[in-house]
Amino acid sequence: MTMCHTEVNGIKIAFDIRGSGPPLILIMGYRLNSRAWPLASRCSIGPSPPVSQDLSMKRLVYVINGPNLNLLGKRQPAIYGHETLADVEAACRRVATERKLELKFHQSNREYEIIDWIHEARETAAGIAINPAAFTHTSVAILDALNAFDGPVFEIHISNVHKREAFRHHSYVSSRADGVIAGFGTQGYTLALQRLAHLIDETAAKKDKGGSATDLGS
Ligand code: DQA
Repeated sequence: MTMCHTEVNGIKIAFDIRGSGPPLILIMGYRLNSRAWPLASRCSIGPSPPVSQDLSMKRLVYVINGPNLNLLGKRQPAIYGHETLADVEAACRRVATERKLELKFHQSNREYEIIDWIHEARETAAGIAINPAAFTHTSVAILDALNAFDGPVFEIHISNVHKREAFRHHSYVSSRADGVIAGFGTQGYTLALQRLAHLIDETAAKKDKGGSATDLGS
C-alpha cells in the first residue's frame, strides 16, 4: 500500500494511490463513500473523480411518489385531475431536459421502497421532490429518511390538503421540507423541479466563483 498524506480545511487525509482504480480515501480513520470525491478532487494528489460521477452528483434529482398515485387519472379525478402518472413523468422529463437535470422518477405503494430510494438519493442526488401521498400524514420513517438526506427537499401535493379533511392537515414531511407545494394540480411537480434546478445552478455558480458548493438550501 502506498499512502500519501495531505490536509484540507484542517482534516487529515490519507490516500492509497496503488494501481489505476479509485483511491482508498481515509479521513480521520474512516473509509468514505463517493461523497468524499469532491474533497479528494480538491487535493493535489490522487486521480480526479470520474467526470460522469461528478456531474451526476451535481445534477441528479429524484421525484418520488407514494401510494395510490399509480392510479392518477382514474382515481377521484375531481380531486386529482385526469392526467396520469405517465403524463406527470413526461412533463418532469421535459423540464429535466431543459434544465440539464438527470431525473429518477419513482412510484411505490410500499413505504420501505420509498425509504430505500431516499437512501439511494443520499449517495447520489442533489435534491428530492416527493409526493408521499397518504404516507405524508402517517410516516415518521419517511421523515427520518429525509432527515438523513442533505440536499433540498420539496414536498408536493396535487390537491390543497388544507382545504380537505382535518387528518390531511398534518404532514410529517413538512418539518423537513425546504418548500411545500399544494393545490397546484400536477403542475406542482414541474414547479418543484424548476426550483431544484435553480438551487443547483446557483450552487454551481457559487462553486465556479470559488465559494462553498455544499449549501443548496438558500
Ligand atoms: C396527496 C394528498 C394526500 O392527502 C393523499 O393521501 C394522496 C395525494 C395529493 O397529492 O394531493 O394520496 O398527496
